[in-house]
Amino acid sequence: MAARDPHRFVNDLDEEALGRVVARLESRARDAVFAELFEKYVGRLALSGAVRVLEVGCGTGAMLRMLARQTGFSGLAWGVDQSSHFIAVANRLAQEENLGGCTVFEVGDAHELNFPQASFDVVIAHTLISHVANPAEVLREMARVVRPGGTVAVFDGDYSSLTYAYPDHVFGKHMDEALATATFNNPLIMRDLPRLLRECGLVLTEAWGDAVTEIGKGSYFKSFAETYVPYVKRSQMLPEEAVDQWLAYQRQAMAEHIFLASCNYYTYLTSPAR
Ligand SMILES: C[S@@+](CC[C@H](N)C(=O)[O-])C[C@H]1O[C@@H](n2cnc3c(N)ncnc32)[C@H](O)[C@@H]1O
Repeated sequence: MAARDPHRFVNDLDEEALGRVVARLESRARDAVFAELFEKYVGRLALSGAVRVLEVGCGTGAMLRMLARQTGFSGLAWGVDQSSHFIAVANRLAQEENLGGCTVFEVGDAHELNFPQASFDVVIAHTLISHVANPAEVLREMARVVRPGGTVAVFDGDYSSLTYAYPDHVFGKHMDEALATATFNNPLIMRDLPRLLRECGLVLTEAWGDAVTEIGKGSYFKSFAETYVPYVKRSQMLPEEAVDQWLAYQRQAMAEHIFLASCNYYTYLTSPAR
């Protein structure tokens, strides 16, 4: 069976698989290393006053809740996702955190946003672009709905850099590649963005890269492996027994504090060319 990105085809997942992805999105947002990468670019956005923020592909709304919790945020944070299951979770969690008054979550397709031109001051795609069917179409939509002088922020990983240490280097490399292929529709898209952003009417204002690295203990990469290994197995890219051995090794390495995993992430801050 060919690899099928679970986030692209989220509406085909069963209840159990949806539960695993919801848990992953929520635990990832609480992960200190990952939260820091979000805060690093959110801190550069102009978010004071009655600002209107849109997150495209908001999932369970974990990042928008983090943004809305910021002291002094008095704007409106709007989240759109293709999954009605995620949107229901996003609404429930926002209510539970008393953020219902400054957040709106609704179902929608990133390729065809249901908003007029120039509706938002800030538009964010946080780990969305690696999953969508057509990244250029999504970027054009983001450029369309942001106001002149506003900001479009795109954050995601360059998944050819995804690396888990494994004593058998050859199999380890195959496993890294299989994880990237099984999980992401566009694993290398972030290296195309300097060209693609311009083609989609967005001018780069700032950009940088960060490596997320865990050595000894694993947290971010623990939940990554546990959530996405089932998709590697289902894709039949590698022998199932060898994949199970790989996961058992990673768990043992974490228990013994000899674990290592890493991946590069890029952030692009842009403005519409018009
Ligand atoms: C890795 S999750 C990121 C969720 C959220 N941005 C976060 O960081 O917690 C990717 C999300 O993109 C959504 N998605 C993928 N393709 C989409 C599309 N065409 N339109 C809207 N949402 C989409 C998925 O449903 C999923 O919730």
